[in-house]
Amino acid sequence: MGKIKSVGILTSGGDSPGMNAAIRAVTRAAIYEGWKVFGIYRGYEGLISGDVKEFTTESVSGIIFEGGTILRTSRSKDFMTVEGRAKAYETIKKFGIDALIVIGGNGSLSGAQELTSEYDIPVIGLPGTIDNDLYGTDNTIGYDTALNTIVECVDKIHDTANSHNRIFFIEVMGRDAGFLAMNSAIAAGAEAAIIPESSTNIDQLAAYIERGIRKSKRSSIVIVSEADGGAMHYAERMHNEYPQFDVRVSILGYVQRGGRPSALDRILASRMGVAAIEALKEGQRNVMIGVINDKMVNIPIAQAVKKDKPIGEELINVLSVLSI
Ligand code: F6P
Repeated sequence: MGKIKSVGILTSGGDSPGMNAAIRAVTRAAIYEGWKVFGIYRGYEGLISGDVKEFTTESVSGIIFEGGTILRTSRSKDFMTVEGRAKAYETIKKFGIDALIVIGGNGSLSGAQELTSEYDIPVIGLPGTIDNDLYGTDNTIGYDTALNTIVECVDKIHDTANSHNRIFFIEVMGRDAGFLAMNSAIAAGAEAAIIPESSTNIDQLAAYIERGIRKSKRSSIVIVSEADGGAMHYAERMHNEYPQFDVRVSILGYVQRGGRPSALDRILASRMGVAAIEALKEGQRNVMIGVINDKMVNIPIAQAVKKDKPIGEELINVLSVLSI
């Protein structure tokens, strides 16, 4: 592997707020080093079809505050095949791309890992997902913004729940991880969070709600992670087993993925983008950039996508102490 003189950058999987700030940071940090930058459109789909454009510093002007991704994204089925990855490598050769920077979640970084194990192309991953489910970083790009969006929505639902004395089951995203559910429950003052990392007993949940009613709480909010049947499933069970409760469901959906990135996400993405170029300069390959205890770290991608990132017992305890 010779000296790096050009990088390709792509966003893949579910978009997350702050991806644009990361694209801007990678582009500018690479140009600062005198390297060429190629923007690859529609994730791995664009890498396969050759949907690639050379970027200048102007290409990333005025995007730090925009949600979504200017490079657009995809969940590419073709890239999961040997033939698809062979075509992707042809594009890499054609444009003279010396290293690839992939911004995305679990599936996207696993794809990068696959490519680099088959071809001689260094890859640096940036954790871009609202789910916060990647090992090796305290936060992923987009998580803070999504959390704030959820809390804003739950605050609004609180108003109507209070007015009607209702029990609300609010479903949030997170795929198989309960970070969004747990932390939004704490931040919004919810009664409970149902997360995939720990089991939920419906009688226990009903006991919490009844306790609240006895203490003349005017409503109850339960945040439900989308895994395990989601809010509908739990609301139906509650309605059938405890018909005295006036239960409603609200599924927040894709509103959670959009919007202007928070300051924290913009800063995180900017630091990670610069660190990605630093990592390549140091000769690192096949690592994900993370921030742990405010320090930049490089984690092997293989670990970032495989190792569990557990939800701390302390968080679970905080919610249960504060919801009495
Ligand atoms: O990974 C981000 C995420 O928003 C998850 O929280 C959710 O389960 C999934 O993507 C939805 O994916 P899609 O955009 O393909 O519907």
